[in-house]
Amino acid sequence: MYKYWQNIIMAQKKNKKVLVTGASKGIGKSIAKLLSDEGYEVYICARTESVLKNTAQEINAAGYFVCDLCQNESCKSIMEEGFDILVNNAGDYVYSSVEKTSDDDIRRLIKLNTEVPYRLIKYAVPYMKEKKWGRIVNIGSISGIVGEANASLYSMTKSAFTGLTKALALELAMDNITVNTINPGWVETELAENAVSAGDFSYEEELDMIPQRRFICPDEIANLVKYIVSEEAKGMTGQSISLCAGLSAG
Ligand SMILES: NC(=O)c1ccc[n+]([C@@H]2O[C@H](COP(=O)([O-])OP(=O)(O)OC[C@H]3O[C@@H](n4cnc5c(N)ncnc54)[C@H](OP(=O)(O)O)[C@@H]3O)[C@@H](O)[C@H]2O)c1
Repeated sequence: MYKYWQNIIMAQKKNKKVLVTGASKGIGKSIAKLLSDEGYEVYICARTESVLKNTAQEINAAGYFVCDLCQNESCKSIMEEGFDILVNNAGDYVYSSVEKTSDDDIRRLIKLNTEVPYRLIKYAVPYMKEKKWGRIVNIGSISGIVGEANASLYSMTKSAFTGLTKALALELAMDNITVNTINPGWVETELAENAVSAGDFSYEEELDMIPQRRFICPDEIANLVKYIVSEEAKGMTGQSISLCAGLSAG
């Protein structure tokens, strides 16, 4: 793992350090950019250094970590920096029938989508408890709330957030630490583009199945995160919130 601090002017920054995982592109990048624009001290991580470095410069991040979160040591050393806000965003998708799902995909998805967020929370909580303040936001998926045929592995990994969020909300309630999960429907990112190409339906057919007939824009997720991490949202904890253009409604 490599870490870099950017030489930014901290004077106008809020006194809150944020880690957004998997924030070189897609939803994570939008979240990191909005929080940085709002004055938070934002740190980001991903595996591909060139893309991550460009994003860090573009969004004026305070620093970035080039790392594979699936390496347990990376999770531990990143969290040694201490963060007030953790956004567990990094994740991947697999489109496959249950009988054709490979052992490698089973191991990889359970690790990245479920074990990694759990480990990051485990290392994040002692710092938050000491500060008597913390915000944990997980990016789940609507596939963890309603079933998605041929994405059972993905659905299984994302549904784990529902139980984790409720249990931790209870456990950390008296420490002024909130824990919530956002479950997006289809969002306009590379992951969604690849998922649609791997699936059995065209982009137009997918649109027809969404009540609002549109994909969510990454900024819509970012704005919900902005609210959840704010002081105004201190009473919201243990919640799984769908932001899915109506997909979960029926
Ligand atoms: N897009 C959708 O329609 C949609 C819908 C519901 C939920 N979600 C969830 O939203 C989250 C973000 O999705 P997205 O669409 O923005 O994905 P994306 O565009 O593919 O971005 C994924 C980010 O995670 C990083 N990443 C992947 N594996 C990593 C690893 N092992 N270690 C560190 N960083 C890693 C990627 O950078 P590197 O590849 O360089 O590491 C990238 O920055 C995921 O958890 C996804 O399941 C997405």
